[in-house]
Amino acid sequence: LGTAGAAGAAGAAGLVAGGGAGAGIAVAARQHPAALTSVGAAHIPFEGVHQAGIVEPAQTCGHLVAFDLAAGADRRAAAALMRRWSDAARAMTRAGRPGTPAVYDDQVADDAGPSSLTVTFGFGRSFFARTGLTGRLPQALAPLPHFPADALDPHRSNGDLWVQIGADDALVAFHALRVLQKAARDTATVRWQMNGFNRTPGATARPMTVRNLMGQIDGTNNPKPSDPGFARTVFVPEDGVAGASGAGGGSPAWMAGGSYAVVRRIRMLLDSWDHLSVERQERVIGRRKSDGAPLSGGTETTPVDLEKFGPDGLIAIPGDAHIRVAAAASNSGAAMLRRGFSYHDGIGADGTPDAGLLFVAWQADPMRGFVPVQRKLDGGDGLSRFIRHEASGLFAVPGGAAAGEYVGQRLLE
Ligand code: HEM
Repeated sequence: LGTAGAAGAAGAAGLVAGGGAGAGIAVAARQHPAALTSVGAAHIPFEGVHQAGIVEPAQTCGHLVAFDLAAGADRRAAAALMRRWSDAARAMTRAGRPGTPAVYDDQVADDAGPSSLTVTFGFGRSFFARTGLTGRLPQALAPLPHFPADALDPHRSNGDLWVQIGADDALVAFHALRVLQKAARDTATVRWQMNGFNRTPGATARPMTVRNLMGQIDGTNNPKPSDPGFARTVFVPEDGVAGASGAGGGSPAWMAGGSYAVVRRIRMLLDSWDHLSVERQERVIGRRKSDGAPLSGGTETTPVDLEKFGPDGLIAIPGDAHIRVAAAASNSGAAMLRRGFSYHDGIGADGTPDAGLLFVAWQADPMRGFVPVQRKLDGGDGLSRFIRHEASGLFAVPGGAAAGEYVGQRLLE
């Protein structure tokens, strides 16, 4: 790494010196687009109270993968799998030159740093029956209700185990996925896999909220870690007090510090969407496309004013605008952290792009996050005519592992 980096720097300097003016700098920048020290070396610790891959900005490359336990794989086999997976994730996310358990190494990620790799593990409802653990099934993991507009493919929905991989380098992300697949051995097999992406760090002149494949700035009004109620919204309390779903609580003690991930593969009907004028697209969402400012005025970060009327006497943010229908204020305070990836799987059978959003929403209790909001949106916000929910999953994501522990140890030991 050191040698290649030094040679690269020398080459860039030579080009700039030889070219003289701005043209030389442009050539150098194209040949050396991003310093490995900033993108490759960035490191997110695997261990902690919460698992990594929830509060950190979503990375450039994402793999969402569900596994089913093999016939005969019991609780002990599942515990051994979680141990192997956690040890592999711990090694691959290490700062400096990350390691790979030798038995699984394919050298795909050689030369690269951890590139902000995170690996996040969750349990689906079916996991508990398969492992004889129904007594420890969280109430909050009740199946999501049927939403009338859903067009779900059961083969790409749910699953016993769920893994979310994110990294700012595609080879690092692939490598992590391959290692986990190999570490699954004969205990679990892939049920479905979805691959997504976000913008590359350094692609914009300054850090900006990402755009989705409809072109909108997406993620502005997410809860922020600095908000007073953030931890309560996203995580099951760390003291193990059951968090959710009214009397009796929705989460057992083993979920302390954990969260629930709702995963939806949402196809965007891009050909229909692109027929709308930008002005109509903006009224569908309730925000300006250019800079993400709410139609009630201001800049991207100005609080939304749902009561504001425009000079034309019309309500500034239409009654069916996505941000009005989805807002916590319209849903008795229901809130979630949205942290998704765009996807593009070529052209679908109908001749339109098979592209959209791998929507991942994090909350302490789906009944106070995704479910009430989706009930409203499914009833027909402006956006619902341009999207289709094609797959779905709900997973209990336990708290993070401490040194020497594996994820899910408090459930499985
Ligand atoms: C806000 C797009 C699906 C919940 C937004 C915004 C955009 C957007 C552009 C405004 C910027 C922001 O605050 O992030 C989309 C697209 C979707 C989609 C393209 C599907 C492809 C969903 C779903 C849910 C949801 C399924 C939850 C069930 C929210 C919430 C807000 C929001 C809670 C913030 C509202 C506010 O308080 O201002 N979405 N969204 N979205 N969306 Fe979505």
